[in-house]
Amino acid sequence: TESTRPIGQHGNAGELQQQATDGEEVLTTAQGVAIPTNQNSLTAGDRGPTMLSDFVLREKIFRFDHERIPERVVHARGYGAHGTFESSADLSEVTRAHLFGAEGRTVPVFVRFSTVAGSRGSFDLARDVRGFAVKFYTAEGNWDLVGNNIPVFFIQDAMKFPDLVHAVKDEPDRGFPQAQSAHDNFWDFAAHMPESTHMTLWQMSDRAIPRSFRFMEGFGVHTFRLVNADGASTFVKFHWKPVLGMQSVVWNEAVKINGADPDFHRRDLWDAITSGDLPQWDLAMQLFDQDTADELPFDVLDPTKLVPEEAVPVQVVGRLTLDRVVDNDFAETEQVAFCTQNVVPGIDFTDDPLLQGRNFSYLDTQLSRLGSPNFTQLPVNAPRCPVANFARDGHMQTDLPAGPVNYEPNGYPTGHRGPRPDQEASFTSFAEPVTGTTRRLRPESFGDHYSQARVFWISQTEIEQQHIVDAYVFELSKVQREEIRAEMVANLRNVDEDLAAQVADGLGLSLPAASTPFVPVRTDLPASPALSMLRNQ
Ligand code: HEM
Repeated sequence: TESTRPIGQHGNAGELQQQATDGEEVLTTAQGVAIPTNQNSLTAGDRGPTMLSDFVLREKIFRFDHERIPERVVHARGYGAHGTFESSADLSEVTRAHLFGAEGRTVPVFVRFSTVAGSRGSFDLARDVRGFAVKFYTAEGNWDLVGNNIPVFFIQDAMKFPDLVHAVKDEPDRGFPQAQSAHDNFWDFAAHMPESTHMTLWQMSDRAIPRSFRFMEGFGVHTFRLVNADGASTFVKFHWKPVLGMQSVVWNEAVKINGADPDFHRRDLWDAITSGDLPQWDLAMQLFDQDTADELPFDVLDPTKLVPEEAVPVQVVGRLTLDRVVDNDFAETEQVAFCTQNVVPGIDFTDDPLLQGRNFSYLDTQLSRLGSPNFTQLPVNAPRCPVANFARDGHMQTDLPAGPVNYEPNGYPTGHRGPRPDQEASFTSFAEPVTGTTRRLRPESFGDHYSQARVFWISQTEIEQQHIVDAYVFELSKVQREEIRAEMVANLRNVDEDLAAQVADGLGLSLPAASTPFVPVRTDLPASPALSMLRNQ
């Protein structure tokens, strides 16, 4: 009911619907011609050759031959559902986004959860990061919050993303492992990218094997900006908090579940929604100004860092409820196209170099994946507000822009000129001062790769720490090149000596010398209760 176009109708079904005698639709070709049977091709004689003139057979096979499209280059395995977001706060002091302008505003949403590394047919319980992507169909255009279930990322700069993904995915010579990080290339990369240490700790923790999508958190990861009607900016970190609390399975359970039911997570979501046990998450924000950002002992533009909840409180601003399963997995879950650059007035980017690269990557890859820039017209991607511009044509154009005007400025009379800019309604980029010279050098403020990893480690309960050690030992024991194991342990010594010693012991290694951090590791930072799953329940 919320989409602008009906899903699942073929052709001009409203006008030309043909009814079979028993009340079902008439079976037709793609051209709408009724066909007598779906069982047999047209042959010459009883047992003779199939006729080239059998356009019914040829069309059916042709259509089938082209059913597949490329899977996503990452996050290929995913599952989606429709829902509603309702705001519970008036945030108009910090953002002009209509969605957050008053308590009780509701917008339809589409959500897709995913694993990252595995292919589309891989299993659900991989030890992996989970994607948590939300498309808000707001009155001012689509806003996509394309997040993960872990609040930090492996790398600081988009330049490293293709290397990261090559290393995470199956090894190019042998084509495996297909859905897990327990292999040489991943750990070789991680061992040589100290900035990934914080993320790998989260990845080895219980967070990476959630009990179901309904029991996991979500994070926007990057620092974004909110901008109010006066153009003033507030930094924001986005969080999703599951109303059911957080729960995971242990590794032995995950292995069994994968064998017994590789669709465990998608089945759980489908069953919950169809039985009326509607999954819910609170949207929460950490809001802070430039002064606070300057006081934090790391750079807020660095996506390998989180803003501690103890430093900036997490405040709930609304609730997401998933209430409708998809009608068609391909049309909706597979063809949905999320993009970090889809923002609305009042929500803006920062200069986080990972976010800047993402803003290019999603639209670009979707052209390759979905085949035409007109994928924005697909029901799941189309905004639920008016869309008007001078973009035209292209593969699979399904809109019918009428009239002679496809450019501006033009001298046509009012009412015939086509759409005009509206300054007041427009998205305007935050007016950020820019200084310095162009350079290809990571800022020094991005140099501390271990202090927050250490805080995460010391914030875990004993059993959670044991799971992390077990995961490192299990994963690294699959690595063939022994020097990689030692290099990883050398990095872990900068996080915590006890952690490194336990992992070395589990691997049967003598403790290697610690690697040299770029900046001294801070051992004075306190544990953060918010980082333990058990304390969070
Ligand atoms: C999917 C690129 C970092 C979350 C994708 C896709 C690409 C991509 C190309 C496939 C999109 C598609 O085919 O529709 C990148 C690049 C990154 C990056 C270049 C860094 C430079 C991140 C980070 C997060 C993230 C930091 C989390 C905050 C996701 C999610 C999806 C995705 C959730 C799946 C969206 C869906 O369900 O369709 N990414 N990504 N990515 N990415 Fe990223």
